[in-house]
Amino acid sequence: MCGIVGYIGEKEAYPILVKGLKRLEYRGYDSAGVALLNEKGIEIYKKQGKVVQMERIIPAEHPKANIGIGHTRWATHGVPSDENSHPHYSQSKKIAIIHNGIIENYTSIKSGLEKRGYTFKSDTDTEVLVNLIEEVLIHENVSIDEAVHQVVGAYAIAVIEEGNHDQIVVAKKGSPLVIGIGEGEYYIASDATPFIEYTKQAVYLEEEELAILSLKDGLKLKNITNEIKIPYVQELALELESIEKGGYDHFMLKEINEQPKSIFDTLRGRLLVDKGTIQLGGFNEYEKKFLSADRIIIVACGTSWHAGLVAEYLIEDLARIPVEVEYASEFRYRNPIITERDIVIPISQSGETADTLSAIKLAKEKGATIFGVCNVVGSSIARESHSGAYTHAGPEIGVASTKAFTAQVTVFTLIALSLARKKGTITESMFRQLIRELDAMPSKVEETLKVDEQSKYIASIYKDVPNCLFLGRGINFPVALEGALKLKEISYIHAEGYPAAEMKHGPIALIDEDMPTVVVATRTEHYEKVVSNIQEIKARSGKIIAIVTQGDTVVSKIADHVIEVPDVDERLSPLVTTIPLQLMSYHIAVMRECNVDQPRNLAKSVTVE
Ligand code: AGP
Repeated sequence: MCGIVGYIGEKEAYPILVKGLKRLEYRGYDSAGVALLNEKGIEIYKKQGKVVQMERIIPAEHPKANIGIGHTRWATHGVPSDENSHPHYSQSKKIAIIHNGIIENYTSIKSGLEKRGYTFKSDTDTEVLVNLIEEVLIHENVSIDEAVHQVVGAYAIAVIEEGNHDQIVVAKKGSPLVIGIGEGEYYIASDATPFIEYTKQAVYLEEEELAILSLKDGLKLKNITNEIKIPYVQELALELESIEKGGYDHFMLKEINEQPKSIFDTLRGRLLVDKGTIQLGGFNEYEKKFLSADRIIIVACGTSWHAGLVAEYLIEDLARIPVEVEYASEFRYRNPIITERDIVIPISQSGETADTLSAIKLAKEKGATIFGVCNVVGSSIARESHSGAYTHAGPEIGVASTKAFTAQVTVFTLIALSLARKKGTITESMFRQLIRELDAMPSKVEETLKVDEQSKYIASIYKDVPNCLFLGRGINFPVALEGALKLKEISYIHAEGYPAAEMKHGPIALIDEDMPTVVVATRTEHYEKVVSNIQEIKARSGKIIAIVTQGDTVVSKIADHVIEVPDVDERLSPLVTTIPLQLMSYHIAVMRECNVDQPRNLAKSVTVE
């Protein structure tokens, strides 16, 4: 989604903006631009395409300015084009704006402005907003709050104004915005990555807050009802190395390889094997609620939804509490039955997914307890939740989610085991055995990563196929879905995930020698049945790539290729079976020369509906 960056201080703004925009590229975008404010007025440079394409239209001597705003746009209103790119000037060119979000009532505001003589150069809702701001600031001589009040929808905005060379005004509703506070300077951004090397002091804007960042008067924060707020300055834990590639060709490959560490970090301080216990801060506080809950409803999108499906298997199997897993986008619009005895668990890597946030708001209105599972500390979903557990996967930059998924599965394993022990639905010896195995998962995942070369070889054989089927059973059915999602989103190969037994009810019609099937066939309760499914595919000349348990001698005789993963308890198996699927997708995408980290049309955090 769109990325916002801004600077005001003593330094040259332009290099800071360009570097910041490059840091935000991972969010997904189709055009980029900057606006710089100096004694000549506001200069805007913007271009469809990547930040480097925008850089080409900047004069060799880049414009000198100490105030500037920059933007990467992910098209919503109007196609990706130079005109629709941000920043946008107001009619008089005295004001410039960048915006992330959607102004839902922009058509009515636009027609009002047209009657007052405004004309528009772009198709965007943002150009409407900047002219509304011009109308209230310059013509009605009232403050910017008046314009913000009239807006229905979501926004994170930054506004600069000619003649007001001392300030940037920012406001937020529904889209993220964070202020970095340096020595006599301010930074703004959609997340802290653009300014982490300059300052670690940050203020996250809350919903419907507006801030004036002034070199003369400092940081003034208020909400849109004009109530003055005291900024809460936090010290960021983010490190620069964690948002750089660190020698890998792509962030995705780095993040796949980081999984032993991210799983370890997610377990650290929580899984206390020696004491035979689990300490999950936010969860322990709400334990009684969990134990008396009628059911747990998980809401999420994409990969996080797949982690939710794994959680359903874990919690129902181990703790015997009914779990429903819903796409957040469907849940919020289907008038769901929710009661005060329900626990709603939103899962989100970014913590900013608009559909998931709206689902939380709906569930809260109906009295449910919200227990968020998020990766980004301080994100909107984390703040909207009553309690929760962070996944400590570290920043995930590649658009295709990898380490966030395994960290989410890890957190749910901890939750399911805690609940099971409290409810007495597993024996103490089983609990002890499972926590020992969970403790060993970082090293099992490390061992699994050794299949990289083999995954690459298999990728080279199948890189040109137009379609691919992924099958799994039980707790590995969501892994099949996740494998298919990884392949389609980064390599643009059509892929479908199915429960293996469901294949006979339709997808088997697609099987022929050109349609490979990836099957998770590890040694589990369903092993024999999966072997039968593989036989059915082979009988129709289909090609099989099977993920099997080390030492398997049955599937290796039937399948075209096997990738071995360590032998672990079935309930923990998604943490290892996912790895070869991530690696195969990665290598196929690289071989097809796709943009692995920023696949076409996709955004890292989907902050619009
Ligand atoms: C995963 O590879 C995707 N890019 C996407 O499906 C993602 O998982 C989804 O948009 C949810 O995002 P969230 O976890 O940040 O809420």
